[in-house]
Amino acid sequence: MKILGIETSCDETGVAIYDSERGIIGDALYSQVELHAEYGGVVPELASRDHVRKTIPLVKEVLKQANCTKEDIDAIAYTKGPGLIGALFVGVGVGRSLAYAWDIPAIGVHHMEGHLLAPMLEDDKPDFPFVALLVSGGHTLLVDVQGLGQYEILGESIDDAAGEAFDKTAKIMGLGYPGGPALAALAEKGRAGIYKLPRPMTDRPGLDFSFSGLKTAVANLYNDSDQSEQSMADIAYAFQEAVVDTIFIKCRRALEQTGHKRLGVDRKSHPAFSALPPSLVVAGGVSANVALRAKLSGLLESKGGKAYYPRPKFCTDNGAMIAYAGYCRYQAILEGKDQFEEPAVRAK
Ligand code: KG4
Ligand code: ZN
Repeated sequence: MKILGIETSCDETGVAIYDSERGIIGDALYSQVELHAEYGGVVPELASRDHVRKTIPLVKEVLKQANCTKEDIDAIAYTKGPGLIGALFVGVGVGRSLAYAWDIPAIGVHHMEGHLLAPMLEDDKPDFPFVALLVSGGHTLLVDVQGLGQYEILGESIDDAAGEAFDKTAKIMGLGYPGGPALAALAEKGRAGIYKLPRPMTDRPGLDFSFSGLKTAVANLYNDSDQSEQSMADIAYAFQEAVVDTIFIKCRRALEQTGHKRLGVDRKSHPAFSALPPSLVVAGGVSANVALRAKLSGLLESKGGKAYYPRPKFCTDNGAMIAYAGYCRYQAILEGKDQFEEPAVRAK
């Protein structure tokens, strides 16, 4: 079975084809980063117009890459949300129209489910159940994942998402857009222990996050510093360390909490506990962060479990994760475990 996936929720146009036997056989991405750079952030109107220009050419490109014709495609998956409404409309419109013209089903995919399932595209993939940490530009979520579609949100950000905190902090420091990768690169040159920033909401119970205070703290540090290259790097280091530590503490808590729940007993005193090594899936743009990966992999190793990530190019928005999530959904529909949102496009 071959599924064409279309992603247009923000500033990347992503199109890919997932083959149930061979994996991803076509994958194309067009990033609008340069278009938005001069504005210091995504301009929704420009994003929508650029998706209009790029989506169909990318569909043609991936069909060619995969050596496929439209007759080979079994269903089309598109991102139905969340995202910028005008940008989403382009993918929804193209996806549903192509499905209608090709007489195949159209499947709307939740963008965050796409991120959550992206690690399944790797050779070394997690088994259900697992805890998922989704850290993107729009969301910070801790999710207890028992199976496909069985998601319980354990915690989320009450203000800025982790990626948003990276981007806004980078903007304060004049690092341009998108700031996350630039700030992370600068942090590599920073020194430990020069500045200390708070780990928000870690001193109280619960799994919610708050990152907006950190950018204010950075703004104060930055304005009071000499703004030399070394000071900038030291501030970037302190910021990244604070975000990573905060996420680490919440993930450790989430793993402990769900371990208890899964067994329904105190896991430490239960003999079966050792048979259940914990798994943590980390996905979304910020999961590309090297410092975060190192810290979370260490946490899972210390617990005898494993952390799973998508390959770097599938951490940020892409069509492959939407094609794969669409495939999983379509399989569930065929098995009678799920249904189309609306029977607008009939199956073959
Ligand atoms: O998942 P994504 O592509 O888009 C959304 O769904 O929001 O995530 C983009 C976010 C941006 O905020 C970007 O700055 C951040 O991911 N990001 C990073 C890194 N690479 C991307 N943040 C920190 N370190 C990175 N290496
Ligand atoms: Zn995303």
